[in-house]
Amino acid sequence: MRLLVLGVNGFIGNALAERVLNETDWEIYGLDIRADKLGECLGHERFHYVEGDISINREWIEYHVKKCDVVMPLVAIATPMTYVREPLRVFELDFEENLKVVRLCVKYGKRLLFPSTSEVYGMCPDIEFKEDESHLVLGPINKQRWIYSASKQLLDRVIWAYGFQHGLKFTLFRPFNWIGPKLDEVTTDPEKEGSSRVVTQFISSLFLAEPIRLVDGGLQKRCFTYIDDGIACLMKIVENKDEKLNGQIFNIGNPRNEATVKELATKLKTMFTNDPRTGHFTKHSEIIEVFSKDFYGEGYQDIDRRVPSIARAKEMIGWEPKVDLDTALKKTLDYYLATSLPQTLPVI
Ligand code: UGA
Repeated sequence: MRLLVLGVNGFIGNALAERVLNETDWEIYGLDIRADKLGECLGHERFHYVEGDISINREWIEYHVKKCDVVMPLVAIATPMTYVREPLRVFELDFEENLKVVRLCVKYGKRLLFPSTSEVYGMCPDIEFKEDESHLVLGPINKQRWIYSASKQLLDRVIWAYGFQHGLKFTLFRPFNWIGPKLDEVTTDPEKEGSSRVVTQFISSLFLAEPIRLVDGGLQKRCFTYIDDGIACLMKIVENKDEKLNGQIFNIGNPRNEATVKELATKLKTMFTNDPRTGHFTKHSEIIEVFSKDFYGEGYQDIDRRVPSIARAKEMIGWEPKVDLDTALKKTLDYYLATSLPQTLPVI
C-alpha cells in the first residue's frame, strides 16, 4: 500500500509514519514544511519525504494523489489561540487548501482519510458524543473560536456529499485531545504564550517557572487520549480490512481519561516537582486563574465537557484505548524533560 501523508511532520503524522514503517510494508510519501519531528523515518527506504507547502506544491500533490492508494491530508492549524487571532488563516488552510486535496481524491478515485475533530460537536449537551446522532452546537459568529469547528464540519459534510453523489471512498476520524511526545513545541518564548494546546502549554510554564493559567477557573473537562492508543486505531482505519470502514466516522478518544483542566495542572505540577531532573529548580510555577477574555480575547468561548462515545470503534474496529491519564501525562512530560528542560533556572 502507498500512503500519501500531507503534514507528515505534525503530531499525528510523524507518529503514524513511525508506526507504519515499523509494523507494515507500506510506503509513505510525506510532505511538510519542516522535518524536525521525523527522526529515524528520514532515510528509511520506504519513507519518501519532500519539504514543501500544501498551498504551493500543487503539482507534487496531484502527482502523488494519482500515485498513492490512501490520502491523508493532516495539514491544519489546531491551536485555539490562532482560531481567535487569525480566523481567516484557519479557514484558508484548514478548509480551502484541504478541499483541493479532497477534490483530487474524487478526481483520481482515491481513498481519503480525513482528520475531523472533537471540536465539531462544539457545546453539545450530550453525556457522550455519538458520531451519527449528536447535534453539533456552535456559538455566535462573533465568537471566532468556532471557525475551526465550522471549517472542519463543513469539510466533513462536503466529503460526505462526495461519497453520496460521486462514490468517494472516505473515512473521517475525530481525535479527542490526543497528547504525547512531540505534541507541540515546548517554548520558552513568552511571545508564543498560549500558542500550544493545554498540556504543552502547562509544561512550558513549568519549564519557565511561570504561572500555570487556568482559564475561567479550569473546571472545564477534556478526555485525554495517549498518542499510541490513537495511532493504533488509525492503523486499523488505514488498513481497512474488507473495506468495511468506508463511509464511516469514528471518534478516537479515551472516555475514562476525563479530567478538569485544574486537575491536569495539579497532576503535571506534582509530577514535575517530584522528578529528580528538576532538582535545580529553586522556584516552581504557581497555579493561577485568568479570564478567557484576557487570555484568548473576546472571540473565545469554551466547551465545558467533551466525552466521546467509542462504541463504534470498539464494534467495527475492535479497538479500545489502554493508556490511563497518569501514564499518558507521565510519558508526555518525560519526553519534554528529556529533550527540552532548561539546565539553569530561567531568569525573567
Ligand atoms: C483542542 C484544539 O481545538 C484542537 O487541538 C483539537 O481539534 C481538539 O481540541 C482536540 O485535541 O480534541 P481544546 O481542547 O479546547 O481544543 O484546546 P486546548 O488548548 O488543549 O485547551 C483545553 C482547555 O484548557 C480549554 O478549556 C482551555 O481554555 C484550557 N487552557 C488552555 C487553560 O486553562 N490554560 C492554558 O494555558 C491553555
